[in-house]
Amino acid sequence: MESCLPILLHSLCFVSLVLQISYASDSISAGQNITDGQTIVSAGGNFQLGFFSPGNSKNRYVGIWYKISAGTVVWIANQENPLNDSSGVLKLTPQGVLTLLNHTDGIVWFSNVSRSTQNPLAQLLDSVNFVVREANDNDLDDAIWQSFDHPCNSLLAGMKFGIDRAKGLDRYLTSWKSVDDPSPGDFTYKLDSSGYPQLILRNGSVVQFRSGPWNGLRFSGFPQLKPNPVYSFGFVFNQNEIYYYFNILNSSVRQMLVLNDNGISQRLTWVDRTHDWRLYASGPTDECDTYALCGGNGNCNMASSPKCVCLTGFVPKYPSDWESMDWLNGCVRRMELNCQGGDKFLKFTNVKLPDTRLSWFNKSMNLQECKQTCLRNCSCTAYSNLDISGRGSGCLLWFGELMDIRQFDENGQDIYVRMAASEVGGSSRGNTGARKSTGIIVGVVLSVVFLLSITVIYVKYKRAGKILAFSRQSHSEDLELPLFDIITIVNATNNFSDNNKLGEGGFGAVYKGVLENGQEIAVKRLSENSRQGPVEFKNEVVYIAKLQHRNLVKILGCCIEQDEKMLIYEFLPNRSLDCLIFNQEEGVSLDWPKRFTIINGVASGLLYLHRDSRLRIIHRDLKAENILLDMEMNAKISDFGLARSFGGNESEGSTKRVVGTFGYMSPEYAINGLYSVKSDVFSFGVLVLEIVSGKRNRGFTHPDNRLSLLGHAWTLSRDQKFMELVDPSIASTLNPLEVLRSIHVALLCVQNDPHDRPEMLSVVMMLNGESTLPHPKQPGFFSEDSVSEASSSSGGKHQKIRPTR
Ligand SMILES: *[C@@H]1O[C@H](CO)[C@@H](O)[C@H](O)[C@H]1NC(C)=O
Ligand SMILES: *[C@@H]1O[C@H](CO)[C@@H](O)[C@H](O)[C@H]1NC(C)=O
Ligand SMILES: *[C@@H]1O[C@H](CO)[C@@H](O)[C@H](O)[C@H]1NC(C)=O
Ligand SMILES: *[C@@H]1O[C@H](CO)[C@@H](O)[C@H](O)[C@H]1NC(C)=O
Ligand SMILES: *[C@@H]1O[C@H](CO)[C@@H](O)[C@H](O)[C@H]1NC(C)=O
Ligand SMILES: *[C@@H]1O[C@H](CO)[C@@H](O)[C@H](O)[C@H]1NC(C)=O
Ligand SMILES: *[C@@H]1O[C@H](CO)[C@@H](O)[C@H](O)[C@H]1NC(C)=O
Ligand SMILES: *[C@@H]1O[C@H](CO)[C@@H](O)[C@H](O)[C@H]1NC(C)=O
Repeated sequence: MESCLPILLHSLCFVSLVLQISYASDSISAGQNITDGQTIVSAGGNFQLGFFSPGNSKNRYVGIWYKISAGTVVWIANQENPLNDSSGVLKLTPQGVLTLLNHTDGIVWFSNVSRSTQNPLAQLLDSVNFVVREANDNDLDDAIWQSFDHPCNSLLAGMKFGIDRAKGLDRYLTSWKSVDDPSPGDFTYKLDSSGYPQLILRNGSVVQFRSGPWNGLRFSGFPQLKPNPVYSFGFVFNQNEIYYYFNILNSSVRQMLVLNDNGISQRLTWVDRTHDWRLYASGPTDECDTYALCGGNGNCNMASSPKCVCLTGFVPKYPSDWESMDWLNGCVRRMELNCQGGDKFLKFTNVKLPDTRLSWFNKSMNLQECKQTCLRNCSCTAYSNLDISGRGSGCLLWFGELMDIRQFDENGQDIYVRMAASEVGGSSRGNTGARKSTGIIVGVVLSVVFLLSITVIYVKYKRAGKILAFSRQSHSEDLELPLFDIITIVNATNNFSDNNKLGEGGFGAVYKGVLENGQEIAVKRLSENSRQGPVEFKNEVVYIAKLQHRNLVKILGCCIEQDEKMLIYEFLPNRSLDCLIFNQEEGVSLDWPKRFTIINGVASGLLYLHRDSRLRIIHRDLKAENILLDMEMNAKISDFGLARSFGGNESEGSTKRVVGTFGYMSPEYAINGLYSVKSDVFSFGVLVLEIVSGKRNRGFTHPDNRLSLLGHAWTLSRDQKFMELVDPSIASTLNPLEVLRSIHVALLCVQNDPHDRPEMLSVVMMLNGESTLPHPKQPGFFSEDSVSEASSSSGGKHQKIRPTR
């Protein structure tokens, strides 16, 4: 709107003026008259009042026009009742009534006043206001009549656009029928005071466009309306009066707002040099300004294609109509409201607030009271602040369908739309109960919760910066970790649609998402059983987000809103290691050099966790599913940091709840709940043997000797037959020395006694051939028997065993 298109307004209208004789005066007093051909001019010389004919019309009207531009008529007296000849006379009666008479002295028009005066004066002011007042009383508030109270199609600086209840005035704009016919046309632009006030443009009785409610700074639907050097503007809303106004800051600037006969309003500025009007702004501006284009609960977005989308949580009422771009019937809720205290609110940002004709407001409530008030009334569907200047104040509530919402890029407003709790993702109380019982059955360990992510990805460090742009409310104290708005996540994941689900683990489900800028993300939606509050959670995640290593998955941010806790990672399309090594067909694509790189990468990531980070992080759930691969097949450990999220009453070295995945857990951890860096080393050993052999440790039993994968590998190695362990699909690409070394190191890692196992630093050196290798002792879980023993022990004494995918 601020783009200044120079437009030559030749069409504005031409006025043919008969010979004009101007009075020296700017006024007439009682008994005086103005006949056709005479005019009066305002004191500053800007405006002229007299008889004219618009366009090609022969009819005569009494009006006011710019002296510099006779075609620009800003007010007309006898709009509806023209004279057909030049016999008209405008008179001021001794009672103070302006009358327009034809040659038979018939009254063509008169100013309808309720008061009479002793000594009236009708004066054309330089503001374009034609005023009838007591000759000795200059106070406009006492005026008997003024043209400003009876606008035609033009709004001028200083006019009040709206309602005066005390005086019974409703000032609004009406378009001309055409440039030749100034009688009232189809369009009106009017302040509507049902519900919270807003300006409404109508074609006949049909609403065409809404300004949206005044929000303290501007109308909600005019994001472009900003403080500027040309004019000031404001909105007055009190017991008696509701109106919008603007004032020109530099009196030598001429500006006005005109409602044209095509329903477009234009703010025009006079340019002396070109001697013409230049378009300063106009409205409606685009398709999304069309009232209710997207129907109820729809959202219009010029940037999307098609322009209409349903608000999150809503679906098209008639999907086939909707798809054929017939949006009239709008959208309906996917999930019915519960209303018995089970509903929540979803925040939408940067929107034009919906039609307020069916709204309720309270200027003194704060947002929290507003929310509670809305919750108490079942038919309340949304709430927002009334005034967004400062820190926001007041309360605006909507009832029923939300009509005529549109999306802006900036300067829009926040609105909180009521949703069934399940739409917001948090859960109602009933829901929680159900989850708890499931939890017991599965024996899931919940205290924990954090980290993980089976599907995630690594982001180059620099890219994290971009994410800040998406965090609508990053808290200043921890800018390292962007906080994502729930609405961003809901939109990105298609509202946690099942189609976007990548997997589900003990800590919650993982969803794929796409941010508005196209960036793919993986969202780990933590189940709500964490004992941690939002603050602790955030601290935790901030800490973990500081862990940066090329072999660790990078966290982009988190989202904490109400009961929801989510971690956001960049999405890695190559999935996790298990998909590539345990799947025979795809396994072909992972040749030995890639596998060896992965082994080294995992070792290096684990070393970082164990040694280089400030606090030693014990992963406790290292497994093929938690190794993600980037485009270059580099390994990224996900799910790290688990140990940090433990509650307070568990000592560093042991836990009653065993978290981990069977097949990777060390004996002392699975059986006695003892964990240390050495339990991660054990898991690493298992992982290496799986990578080399292409077989899962869990469920492996050698048919001949009933040995576990670990026992089998140890036996083969002892007998110098290690090649028998190797996945046949990599036979052609392998480097025997590397394979031998990997198996050897793995066997050292899986030794039964944790003290015998090397630390990760040694592991890294050994893998690189920088260290001599001792002989491995017998591994833990050597045979099937020892495995099942631990398994039953684990199942009995400890709840747990996290379900794996
Ligand atoms: C208008 O005023 C003039 C003198 O001021 C007077 O001669 C004339 O009769 C008036 N016309 C009417 C129609 O009142
Ligand atoms: C003006 O209108 C009157 C009555 O409507 C009519 O008698 C008269 O002839 C018209 N004059 C012209 C010039 O059309
Ligand atoms: C003069 O105006 C009266 C009242 O509007 C109307 O009845 C009459 O026909 C008009 N006369 C002419 C000649 O226009
Ligand atoms: C004059 O004003 C009164 C009260 O405002 C109104 O009732 C009446 O209809 C008006 N008359 C005309 C001719 O507009
Ligand atoms: C206004 O409404 C009329 C009647 O419904 C219609 O014919 C006309 O096209 C509309 N004008 C615009 C600009 O929409
Ligand atoms: C007002 O505008 C005129 C011409 O546009 C300019 O010369 C003058 O400096 C302006 N005055 C102020 C106070 O800006
Ligand atoms: C508006 O809210 C305030 C504060 O909650 C309350 O005191 C007042 O009564 C409310 N006014 C109306 C009209 O509900
Ligand atoms: C809810 O709000 C509507 C609209 O303001 C009102 O008519 C209705 O009485 C309210 N219901 C309750 C229970 O307050």
